[in-house]
Amino acid sequence: MNIFDRIKQDHDEAREVIEKLKASTPRAEKTRRQLFDELKLEMWVHHKVEEAVFYSFLRETKDMHGEAMEAYNEHHMANGVFEELDTFPVDSEEWGMKFKALSELVTHHMDEEEKDFFPLAKKLIKPDMAKLMGERFDARKRVVLAALQPLDVKAEMEKA
Ligand SMILES: [Fe+2]
Ligand SMILES: [Fe+2]
Repeated sequence: MNIFDRIKQDHDEAREVIEKLKASTPRAEKTRRQLFDELKLEMWVHHKVEEAVFYSFLRETKDMHGEAMEAYNEHHMANGVFEELDTFPVDSEEWGMKFKALSELVTHHMDEEEKDFFPLAKKLIKPDMAKLMGERFDARKRVVLAALQPLDVKAEMEKA
């Protein structure tokens, strides 16, 4: 899968989880917590690997330096709001309000990447490079996600 399709795949998955969270009620505390934790980790890893694989190249180009820096900045903001939201109980009113704002921020960013940045980036990233970036994105994301899973120390001790 090329980098554009691979990023779009992550975005579509994130959009689905965001919709589920928006449709959830404060009473569905456990589901909310679980979906939110999943989205937070997914998005954090998505942002970091996207920066390492995609934007690190684009930021060095004349044509897309500005867009790339904007993306780094929006990732930084979104990651910050995810952390902040973690400090509110998921069944509180503040959480609902803040999640709405966060979902707008994240959705706007993903739409902007797909609609505005991808067409420009396709002029700089030719198909063979896009394919390589897509493969690296996938492989790196897998490693980072695995590394960030909570350690089941008891199970690991039994194996040792
Ligand atoms: Fe992004
Ligand atoms: Fe993205």
